[in-house]
Amino acid sequence: MKNDPKLIKNWLKQRKKQHLYRTHRLSESPQQACMRIDGKQLLNFSSNDYLGLANHPDIITSFKVATDIYGVGTGSAHLISGHTKAHQALEEALADFTGRERALLFSTGYMANIGVLNALAERGDVIYADRLNHASLVDGALLSKASTKRYQHNDTHSLERQLKTQQTGNKLIVSDGVFSMDGDIAKVNSLANIANKHQAWLMIDDAHGFGTLGTNGAGLLQQQQLEQDDVPILMATLGKAVGTAGAFIAGSEALIEYLIQTARSHIFTTAMPAAIAAATLTSLDIIKKENWRREKLQRLIKHFKQGAAERKIGLMPSNTAIQPIKIGSSKKALTISQQLLERGLLVSAIRPPTVPDNSARLRITLSTAHNTAMVDELLSQLDTIGI
Ligand SMILES: Cc1ncc(COP(=O)(O)O)c(C=O)c1O
Repeated sequence: MKNDPKLIKNWLKQRKKQHLYRTHRLSESPQQACMRIDGKQLLNFSSNDYLGLANHPDIITSFKVATDIYGVGTGSAHLISGHTKAHQALEEALADFTGRERALLFSTGYMANIGVLNALAERGDVIYADRLNHASLVDGALLSKASTKRYQHNDTHSLERQLKTQQTGNKLIVSDGVFSMDGDIAKVNSLANIANKHQAWLMIDDAHGFGTLGTNGAGLLQQQQLEQDDVPILMATLGKAVGTAGAFIAGSEALIEYLIQTARSHIFTTAMPAAIAAATLTSLDIIKKENWRREKLQRLIKHFKQGAAERKIGLMPSNTAIQPIKIGSSKKALTISQQLLERGLLVSAIRPPTVPDNSARLRITLSTAHNTAMVDELLSQLDTIGI
């Protein structure tokens, strides 16, 4: 325990020495392709605002209109007096959009994941988690009384080998849909088959697929035509492609009723502002109607990948908006990120413990808000620096 300021200071010093120290950047502009950050104009390739909706005028208007009706704070939890008609309408819209019986809002994706895993997995149960799952799923599993087995990344044989050894208790398989730091996609069809074969629950966290994938943006499970019976627990966030904030779990009526009674991060926290719910409803309408946003994003991803290949810049195997470049050493990743910053480009260096040891990377994210000239500028600077 670091029960002495000296120990904390030493730990911080050590962290700096290892090139793992983290600091806040100060943004002075809305989330968009060109941002003013720490007093500098930057081209932003470090945002999860994949569809360019975080600063959309119609979404802002809905937010403002809702504050006239509901004020700013909700003042209490959903189960006390914080659940407004806007929250209810959003839950119904999300259930409808994802083709699930019902949906339940959480104030953040982190809270949704720790809430649902805690509520569902009990002592004697086993949670089977992909090794590269997001930290919120790792923490949710740790907080629950179940034991956790982590299978090799996207390796269904490794998962099945582990499943076969379980004698008693229930099973829950949980995976990111689009892996947040790698950009690759889980084999959700195989996971659904395996879950069915082994009588396991299956939960998919579609934080990075919701909005960007599927015929009208309902996410990875829509793209893969996986329904509630195939994937009974769907989680997605609203702070990424949707451009607002919060998250939801979608599934059966019984699942949602159970979570309302038991998910502590839903019960014991203030409901998200109603204006966020109202703004999200408008965002969902735009996501469904404006296919061009997904099409443009796909074009930009293709353009980036092609340009990188021409310049012999090694990318990770991803076809999504998350296009990381693995560097390895944290020091080197930080240096390149700093060099890019000096050239007017914001590209974050993602280091352990967010990613495994010796796999620091530049996490480039593309957005509909970018254009090809911006992507070319990024490629050209990466080339000049010599990645
Ligand atoms: C896969 C995944 N799940 C959950 C979360 C947490 O969502 P939120 O930022 O809404 O807490 C994130 C990102 O932050 C994520 O990448």
